[in-house]
Amino acid sequence: MAKGAILIASGPWPPEPWAAPIWAAEPDRPVFIWPDLADAAAIRYALVWHPPQGVLAKLPNLAVIFSLGAGVDHLVFQKDLPQVPIVRVVADDLTRRMSEWVTLQVLTHHRRAPAYARQQAARTWKELKQPAAADVRVGIMGMGVLGRDAAEVLVRLGFRVAGWSLHRAKVAGVESFFDVVGLEPFLRRTDILVCLLPLTRETRGILAMPLFAKLARDGPLGGPVLINAGRGGLQVDADIVKALADGTLVGASLDVFEQEPLPPSSPLWVAPNAVITPHAAAASAPEALVPGILARIADYEAGKPLTNLIDRASMY
Ligand code: NDP
Ligand code: OXD
Repeated sequence: MAKGAILIASGPWPPEPWAAPIWAAEPDRPVFIWPDLADAAAIRYALVWHPPQGVLAKLPNLAVIFSLGAGVDHLVFQKDLPQVPIVRVVADDLTRRMSEWVTLQVLTHHRRAPAYARQQAARTWKELKQPAAADVRVGIMGMGVLGRDAAEVLVRLGFRVAGWSLHRAKVAGVESFFDVVGLEPFLRRTDILVCLLPLTRETRGILAMPLFAKLARDGPLGGPVLINAGRGGLQVDADIVKALADGTLVGASLDVFEQEPLPPSSPLWVAPNAVITPHAAAASAPEALVPGILARIADYEAGKPLTNLIDRASMY
């Protein structure tokens, strides 16, 4: 039987690095690269990242949509999304990259890196007070694949770690808070807030002034720190600017923004103690992810169940 064709619609990412490992592994599987829909009826699998609105609805025999990233907000907010299963990326490579970024940012604020950078620029030799990790309370919003792994790494470094999710998360050494009622007590005990939530109808705009005002103010860092690598739509950029200016937050590390790329005119670029990275916390590396996608396709063609499926109702 002929293998089902693949469509690659990778938005701002170049498609060739995604096509090359497919061609190498399965030269007999047809691959189309958007906007080439020469044989739309042959396409069974769509590998997508921010596909143009309406493209997927043009594929009459589409069987499975594969998101090329872990997040699926680029799909679930689209109109006319075909009613076929959506599989997202769950891969050790991506998970490790995110835990690296989260750890780097937690340590940046914990070890006073922005203050030392200012001192270096001024050629100032002055040791700053350094709390022990055991005295710093990290709180992770979103205890899914990425949140759990980051939590485990931070526990190993000695931080006091808690997580907040919809359902209770069981991770050794991590205090679990959950559901709407768990949010306030979670915030009240948090010095460094790490956000790894998905963007859904429920989570949009959650990282705003009313939430920042509930974070702990009695910790050893002089005030709370915000770290967000979830999605820009989770945060209100203007509130972060205000919170950094008035001391509601004493630092921030942001990888995602309401508008990406972050416009050069954004005050976040120069906000005090703010670290900005260009949505680069955990890149999707084609050579690391394509083998997993091809394995899922092989399972599907062998009649086995798909894994890492999105629940459309909850949007993640
Ligand atoms: P998962 O789906 O595995 O985890 C999502 C977590 O969020 C779960 O713990 C879930 O709770 C929790 N959650 C969802 N909705 C709510 C809510 N309303 N209230 C409380 N908790 C909620 O996702 P991943 O960990 O794999 O990825 C998380 C996000 O990280 C992605 O959606 C993406 O947006 C972002 N990301 C960013 C990258 C970057 O480079 N900046 C790279 C990769 C991902 P429960 O466990 O109870 O279901
Ligand atoms: C993802 C991302 O969701 O890179 O994987 O943002």
